[in-house]
Amino acid sequence: MRILAIESSCDETAAAVIEDGRKIISSVIATQVDEHKLYGGVVPEIASRRHCESINGVVSEALERAEMKLNELDALAVTYAPGLIGALLVGVNFAKGLSLSTGLPLIPVHHLRSHIAANYLAHPELEPPFLCLVVSGGHSHIVEVKSYTEMRVIGRTRDDAAGEAFDKAARTMGMPYPGGIHLDKAAELGNEESYKLPRPKVSGSKYDFSFSGLKTAVINLIHNAKQKGEEINVNDLSASFRKAVVDSLTDNFIGAAGNMGYDKLVLAGGVSANSLLRRRVWEETEKRGWRCYYPTLELCGDNGAMVGAQAYYEYKAGRIADMMLNAAATKNIELAFNEV
Ligand code: KG4
Ligand code: ZN
Repeated sequence: MRILAIESSCDETAAAVIEDGRKIISSVIATQVDEHKLYGGVVPEIASRRHCESINGVVSEALERAEMKLNELDALAVTYAPGLIGALLVGVNFAKGLSLSTGLPLIPVHHLRSHIAANYLAHPELEPPFLCLVVSGGHSHIVEVKSYTEMRVIGRTRDDAAGEAFDKAARTMGMPYPGGIHLDKAAELGNEESYKLPRPKVSGSKYDFSFSGLKTAVINLIHNAKQKGEEINVNDLSASFRKAVVDSLTDNFIGAAGNMGYDKLVLAGGVSANSLLRRRVWEETEKRGWRCYYPTLELCGDNGAMVGAQAYYEYKAGRIADMMLNAAATKNIELAFNEV
């Protein structure tokens, strides 16, 4: 089954042709990062406009690279939630138009489910059930993936997402948007024991996270140093900050897996590209004789291929939309597109 998948939830316009949920036939990504960089973060109105301008070309190129025509496809898929509403609407309306004109079934895909599915492209042997840490710019969840389409969130951030925390700390240290990758690179050169930063615990749910205190600690540390005329060692502070975030993510993730009896652990989302997170989860799972999976670096960030991968399984579960499909800025990962 060949699916043409479209993604436009944030600042990447992407399209891909995927076979049977596992094989990438083509994948095209047009990023807007350089433009948003000027403002230090994504400007929603600009994002929507750039999606409008790029989507036709990106979809055409995905078909061209796959050497396929629309009538050789079996279905269309699109990210419908969560994300920037104006950005999502561009993809959803484009996909609805294509579906109407071709008669192809339209499969709505939840953005975080697609991040998880990036792992199906990278690891042909991977099948649910497993426990997944989904860490992106907007979300940090520990998700029980019971089947391809049944999920349960057992831990989440109470405030900032991990990616957001990385980006804000990086910005305070003068790095360009999106700062996560720059902070990660600087951290590789620093000493993680140099600066003492808090390890926030959240009362109530034992697998929940909190990163805003950590972010404030870094901002205060930099301001205090400036006032005293002291130099900050950016590599050392990056390393200390990265360790604090990764400690918190890894402790909860490994703890949850141990308590719940999962021995298959999966990382997903933009922050799963973080080199320390990948190393730490790998080491902790090795130690226990568990298995650990994460996407290849190209598949960690937003792309159309992961949407096509998840769409295959949503289709098999009968989750097909009609022309009433709407985009949603927020949506619980546990719900099907037509559940509230
Ligand atoms: O999943 P994603 O591409 O977009 C969303 O759905 O939000 O995630 C983007 C986030 C950004 O916050 C970015 O800084 C972060 O992932 N990120 C990283 C790294 N690479 C990307 N964070 C830490 N270390 C990295 N190597
Ligand atoms: Zn994403």
